[in-house]
Amino acid sequence: MKIHVANHPLISHKLTVLRDKNTNSQVFRHLVDELVTLLAYEATREVKIESVSIQTPVTETTGSLLSLPKPVVVPILRAGLGMLEGMMRVMPSADVGFLGMVRDEETLQASTYANRLPEDLSGRQCYVLDPMLATGGTLVAAFNYLIERGAQDITAICLISAPEGVEVVKQAFSHTQFPITIVTGAMDEKLNEHGYIVPGLGDAGDRLYGVV
Ligand code: URA
Repeated sequence: MKIHVANHPLISHKLTVLRDKNTNSQVFRHLVDELVTLLAYEATREVKIESVSIQTPVTETTGSLLSLPKPVVVPILRAGLGMLEGMMRVMPSADVGFLGMVRDEETLQASTYANRLPEDLSGRQCYVLDPMLATGGTLVAAFNYLIERGAQDITAICLISAPEGVEVVKQAFSHTQFPITIVTGAMDEKLNEHGYIVPGLGDAGDRLYGVV
């Protein structure tokens, strides 16, 4: 498993405003959108392309276009939805599949409550969107789901990660050669006893959409 922690002043600046408890939902959503766009640049570094011949107004030349089958972007509901638009702006031709996962606040175990994904993901590159990599349970469950359906490789984009969660994901797939990459805006200090990332930003879903 590869992990890439973004080290960029603009990402640090936007994450700092995002973390601030006084940042309202409107600004929060806007910042999430901008951050995904910046992280997507790194996350799509290995997206498959193929050579094509085109005619410019001046001459014939060879360029590159995204290959088929199209990549699949998979936001994890609810908070991953806030990252979808920013990702699709960068890769508008991708397909989108949805995975609804919720974690039990006591056991911290993740379970799937909704899925809208192609049954067959053979040869598809999958981009999972989940703002907070906390215990790692949600990502492990989502990755297994996609691997069972034949995904070719998986890249997760997480705004903030906890070292404990990254370790859980690493261990879960240490016995396979399956290509997994995590691209994150920041590696925080730790998880607290409630499974929240410290310093983190609180509950990403609540901050995006209000408390339900
Ligand atoms: N999910 C969140 O929204 N925030 C955390 O800190 C951990 C999990």
